[in-house]
Amino acid sequence: MIGERARAIDRGLIEKAMIEGNAASTSIPAEPLWYKDAIVYQLHVRTFFDSNADGIGDFQGLTQKLGYLQDLGVTTLWLLPFYPSPLRDDGYDIADYTDIHPSYGTLGDFKAFLNEAHRRGLRIVTEIVLNHTSDQHAWFQEARQSRDNPRRDWYVWRDTDDGYRQVRIIFTDTEQSNWAWDPVSKQYYWHRFFSHQPDLNFDKPEVVEAIWEVMKFWLEIGVDGFRLDAVPYLVEREGTSSENLPETHAVLKLFRRRMDEHFPGRIFLAEANQWPLDVRPYFGDADECHMAFHFPLMPRMFMAIRLEDRKPIVEILNQTPEIPDACQWAIFLRNHDELTLEMVTDEERDYMYDAYAKDATMRLNVGIRRRLAPLLEGDTRKIRLMNGMLMSLPGTPIIYYGDEIGMGDNVHLGDRNGVRTPMQWTGGWTAGFSLADPERLYAPVVSNVLYNPQIINVDSQSRSPHSVLSWMKRLIRTRKTSRVFSRGTIEFVHPANHGVLAYVRRLDQEIILVVNNLSSRAQAVELDLRAFRGSIPVEMAGGNIFPRIGELPYLLTLGPYDFYWFRLRRL
Ligand code: GLC
Ligand code: CA
Repeated sequence: MIGERARAIDRGLIEKAMIEGNAASTSIPAEPLWYKDAIVYQLHVRTFFDSNADGIGDFQGLTQKLGYLQDLGVTTLWLLPFYPSPLRDDGYDIADYTDIHPSYGTLGDFKAFLNEAHRRGLRIVTEIVLNHTSDQHAWFQEARQSRDNPRRDWYVWRDTDDGYRQVRIIFTDTEQSNWAWDPVSKQYYWHRFFSHQPDLNFDKPEVVEAIWEVMKFWLEIGVDGFRLDAVPYLVEREGTSSENLPETHAVLKLFRRRMDEHFPGRIFLAEANQWPLDVRPYFGDADECHMAFHFPLMPRMFMAIRLEDRKPIVEILNQTPEIPDACQWAIFLRNHDELTLEMVTDEERDYMYDAYAKDATMRLNVGIRRRLAPLLEGDTRKIRLMNGMLMSLPGTPIIYYGDEIGMGDNVHLGDRNGVRTPMQWTGGWTAGFSLADPERLYAPVVSNVLYNPQIINVDSQSRSPHSVLSWMKRLIRTRKTSRVFSRGTIEFVHPANHGVLAYVRRLDQEIILVVNNLSSRAQAVELDLRAFRGSIPVEMAGGNIFPRIGELPYLLTLGPYDFYWFRLRRL
């Protein structure tokens, strides 16, 4: 059903896109639901590759590495903010929305990068931080001039700091209040994040128009979509949590209407770190955001593998509401922020800290600032299993740069910088990231004994068919052989053995059975597969045929952290 309708939507929109034509689809075949089948790679230009030996990654460097990303098999890149910025929140503090930070290159470099990416069939999703600007942005500089400045109410001002009392603080380690005093104009301004990031006032139509102009600017250049940063907090209202308010949804729907009208095929990905039921409205009736992150699933995958029990994963997916056919969850294991523990219970949070962040320096705000490989104790079996689930659970998977080689972190770098160190290309002093001296790099390369570039780098892993990198390539290739993963339904199988997580993904006639051993010990499992009586499971990585499914419980054995994907063939 889902598949049929989705295809009908596809056809309609493809025709529309062909008639209207747009910059982004000139080299990539028009496919309006492309984001549903995408495999996303998240990276920061600064961290990827330095082309001019100044120690900072840049667009020319990234352009040189597009071949690597294409070869990895990802289809879409999500770039962290690259705009002019004082970089007090790594670029999420934007000082100018329509230019490039000089360290990363020029607008011309960006356009050349975008063209080359499109030529290689890679789509580009960029960041729009709509909730707030840097206090260095010209809008704020004007607004703070005086209380009667025409831009004054582009931001949110009060004489006292006691408004919106119900609103929580997000950066609990740095901020005591969501109000900050402005000594220039002698009033308080509202900020949900760092105090140097004043919130824009979305009650002001001029602000909505200004942000739409920003979107238009990048859509005209040809970007394929936006991650909408911190989207629940656009509008605030007294007496509420000021999150997910109807007024905020109205603003997003307006942007969506305009984008669909002028730039069909481009997408919004919402960053709403909320429970699934509260995220659901961000999809609207397929008239708001195309995609939204599934935040609560991520910590539960880490819980499940530690508890050796499928319950946390099954529970959260059972609580996840249906979304419109043209929409999609975005799922991930790690990203550029702390591993957030906002969407878990107090008990679960205690468990996660105890299991994954015994050392207090590993904790930040309400989360854990570590990368995938160190979290999994460098155990490549666990790294594979977690990525296997990432690639087979419903949603569009997002890989955080470096995790495809099992890169390490540096929890001593402060804030979230420990998971934003230079990409490790070779075993050299600067990990092949830059020709600058190592001490000149924007951040030191990871140097501990387990994860330094001599141990972990792209070059050596490319030479071994058994490396994490080579394995990731095969996993991605296998995933791409079927749209069941990206568009199919999920049904859980409920074996008595709770260490095993098994599910059936289904799209029309195509059926794939996934069986994961979440435990550190070998397991036998009996699966009730009577619904597929007569089918033959074909293991997708190797192509081997397994015994035909009959009336009796289907018996499988799995080694520690093993998993299988079976295509069920009716023969
Ligand atoms: C989002 C970003 C985070 C940033 C914050 C404030 O949560 O992911 O990195 O610090 O917004 O812009
Ligand atoms: Ca550079």
